[in-house]
Amino acid sequence: MRTLDLSITSPPSSSRYCCRCGILSDLGNLLEEAELKGPFFIVSNPTVGPVYGRRVKESLEDRGIAFSYSEVPDGEIHKNLLEARRLYERMMDAGLNRQSTVIALGGGVIGDLAGFAAATYMRGIPHIFIPTTLLAQVDASIGGKVAVDHGRAKNIVGSFHHPRLIISDPEVLSTLERRQWASGFAEIIKSAAIASASLFEVLEKHSLTHFEEDYTSLEEIIYEVACIKSSIVGADPFEKNVRAHLNFGHTLGHALESVTAYRRYLHGEAVAIGMRGAAMIAVELGFLQPSVAERIDELLSRYSLSLSLGTIDEEKILEALMLDKKRGLHNVKFVLLKNLEDPMVTDLVPSDLIRSVIRRLKSQ
Ligand SMILES: NC(=O)c1ccc[n+]([C@@H]2O[C@H](COP(=O)([O-])OP(=O)(O)OC[C@H]3O[C@@H](n4cnc5c(N)ncnc54)[C@H](O)[C@@H]3O)[C@@H](O)[C@H]2O)c1
Ligand SMILES: [Zn+2]
Repeated sequence: MRTLDLSITSPPSSSRYCCRCGILSDLGNLLEEAELKGPFFIVSNPTVGPVYGRRVKESLEDRGIAFSYSEVPDGEIHKNLLEARRLYERMMDAGLNRQSTVIALGGGVIGDLAGFAAATYMRGIPHIFIPTTLLAQVDASIGGKVAVDHGRAKNIVGSFHHPRLIISDPEVLSTLERRQWASGFAEIIKSAAIASASLFEVLEKHSLTHFEEDYTSLEEIIYEVACIKSSIVGADPFEKNVRAHLNFGHTLGHALESVTAYRRYLHGEAVAIGMRGAAMIAVELGFLQPSVAERIDELLSRYSLSLSLGTIDEEKILEALMLDKKRGLHNVKFVLLKNLEDPMVTDLVPSDLIRSVIRRLKSQ
């Protein structure tokens, strides 16, 4: 088993990332080792629960561990305060107290929502996360961010609350749709681009199909990306400096998600376009060699992430990029690469350049 102790300084607490094919069946053991107390409260959804809930429940039953089980409807639209409130009610019904533990079983939506409920119930009770999407295994499960959406903004109500355990079992990804795999790979490519040229090279040698078929290599890269994210988060838990590098591709990516009302692109798909845009900007500003931008482009295509902007209205994208509409396109923060492993943050990208890059992305 590959384990990683995440460094959490504020407030000091422990969080351990465990990754191994088949680890799900060991859940009962892992909970006991981590000295987590019941009653446990499992939160999943109708897509994941019926497939993997039984293994989780059996592992607890084998150890005589008491639990209750609850499902939230599937989808980002349900990551909201109403569902959090419903969870609080069921947590009270189940008699959860300060020592109880919430178990989030699902993708990033379940991780964020169940984590948020745990962070706020009785001013915070422990939770663990069993991420079941690639994106959640390499990204959403690490860093302690938990949140729900508000009709007017995504992730606007939230907190920092680290899971005490993160249990990543690559085998559960066998039922994941291909688009979701590719979306997860966008975050893997992002981490490689900002922090590991050697991982970037490994990815260049393989393809999505290789990792879909070879769970040993998949386990290795999931663990490697988890290490990258945890070291960046450990160095800057509250996103005051280097943690911002994790937003490579996200400035434009978030704008695209917002303009398309989170319906057209999966998160990683939007981030992939954002990384291509950021690479074009860095080349135009003379920071990045065109050959490196080409490698990023090729790698994204290799992992089925060569998506177009199609018919999206350019002005709407620009509007979504502006944090403060009165200030126009100034001060929009971009993470740009000077090279692989060498990111920088700048808010000095000329607005004409942003426009021309969006036009180029539209014409491709
Ligand atoms: N907290 C963080 O640091 C952080 C970071 C990145 C993203 N996020 C959040 O994560 C969410 C996106 O997460 P996601 O991409 O995992 O999406 P998701 O949780 O919506 O899962 C995607 C789809 O796959 C299904 N699914 C999950 N596991 C499956 C499996 N093993 N087999 C088959 N289907 C499965 C889900 O039910 C869902 O329909 C967003 O809400 C985003 O804001 C949070
Ligand atoms: Zn992301």
